[in-house]
Amino acid sequence: MNREEPKVFITGEAIRRRVGRLGRRISKDYAQVENLHLVGVLRGSFIFLADLSRALTIPRTVDFLAVASYETTVAPKGPVRLITDLRTDIAGKHVLVVEDIVDTGDTLDYLMSLLALRAPASLKCCALLSKPASRNKEGRIDYQGFEIPDVWVVGYGLDDRERYRALPYIGIRSDDGGD
Ligand code: IMP
Ligand code: MG
Repeated sequence: MNREEPKVFITGEAIRRRVGRLGRRISKDYAQVENLHLVGVLRGSFIFLADLSRALTIPRTVDFLAVASYETTVAPKGPVRLITDLRTDIAGKHVLVVEDIVDTGDTLDYLMSLLALRAPASLKCCALLSKPASRNKEGRIDYQGFEIPDVWVVGYGLDDRERYRALPYIGIRSDDGGD
């Protein structure tokens, strides 16, 4: 069993700077709206959403939903499933979906289609990380933190079989040859 700390890939300081910049951009873009409704995708986005929501200078509310994600880092992924729905109706609201990472794009595509049916006033998405190499779908990311290569990353909310979510940086398992 490998107990080594993951190698630093993106430092906590670099994440803080990028999240601050995203917060300023989003605050500017939504300056005219009454409220921005943040929808965090559990579980991976919980730390990013906590920091991003505090980097905003505009009125905002927060809700969560949960989808099934990879069971392991190696198994092929099944269809996306909604595990927990939002608490509140989003009709007429300005919604920003907050994701940890977009890999194949299937999760985001599923969520954006699902939420669009509920008649929000606007619907955009923000992802901290994007792995364009493994993208299946064309789906656009409106606000993106970092583009990364096709490696399995952990920390800052992201896990490897539930481990490492609380790391203060984004790392790569030291035994990772790239999955
Ligand atoms: P997609 O549907 O393939 O875009 O996968 C998105 C989901 O897979 C993310 O929300 C994560 O939960 C998970 N995921 C994809 N890549 C990674 C990674 O490198 N580390 C941790 N989780 C990942
Ligand atoms: Mg996720």
